[in-house]
Amino acid sequence: RKKTTLPALAAMHRRREPITMLTAHDFPSAHAADQAGMDMVLVGDSLAMVALGMEDTSAVTLDDMVLHSRSVMRGARAAFVVADLPMGSYEVSPEQALQSAIRLVKEGRVHAVKLEGGREMEGQIRKITGAGIPVLAHVGLTPQRQNALGGFRVQGKSVAGAVKVLQDARAVEAAGAFGVVLEAVPAEVAELVTGKLGIPTIGIGAGAGCSGQVLVQVDMLGYYPPGRFLPKFAKRFGDVWGEATRAIEAYKSEVKGGTYPAPEHTYPMPKEEVAEFEK
Ligand code: KIV
Ligand code: NA
Repeated sequence: RKKTTLPALAAMHRRREPITMLTAHDFPSAHAADQAGMDMVLVGDSLAMVALGMEDTSAVTLDDMVLHSRSVMRGARAAFVVADLPMGSYEVSPEQALQSAIRLVKEGRVHAVKLEGGREMEGQIRKITGAGIPVLAHVGLTPQRQNALGGFRVQGKSVAGAVKVLQDARAVEAAGAFGVVLEAVPAEVAELVTGKLGIPTIGIGAGAGCSGQVLVQVDMLGYYPPGRFLPKFAKRFGDVWGEATRAIEAYKSEVKGGTYPAPEHTYPMPKEEVAEFEK
């Protein structure tokens, strides 16, 4: 498979071919996404919850993102890989944002970075793209701002909210973003915004009118402990947690019951050696 590049993504967008994106947080999850043919892989800061067991994304550090990006890059051969700038690594100034983006590219080895925010992030997006690092923007529901937004709530339900989503999307395009994630906005709003932009929209909980879709890998795989809250857009395409649990339980019962390991799982010693050894 050929490597997915920015021009390849732009061409997909022009011919209205939906762009596929999936998160990955380590080597195996990146390898699976890449081999299954994802156009883009996202090292999302959602790795806080899915890989590190944290409550939300606020405690993830740039060092964490660099470490996980490196492992993802060992598994991603053809996908275009984007890594999240974590909370606290870009909001202070365009200079801070560029320094953090450079670390994700130089040390994390990813192709592009993502940051949350619209109009207020224009300076950051200009600065990073000016240095030759592609930026994917993220507007609508921006989880790093959950406390200011009053929780994980759909954005752009009112006319004023929808206008804000559109203005934010236009601002990030003007600032140089190559695409924009639209999270948790009504399908009508996402479709209208998509039609008004020249760059692709990557939707999550934003309906089928976007230029592409992104999901959190463990959510679509069904690879999370029972009880994890899932928003309605998180379609479960598999039951990997169930499969893993069944396999581990089978291993446990075979060890406890004495049926594993069987002779075919052991290394025999030549009979003469055994006789000699037993003396
Ligand atoms: O961190 C993440 O997984 C994301 C996607 C949900 C877009 O930002
Ligand atoms: Na994220």
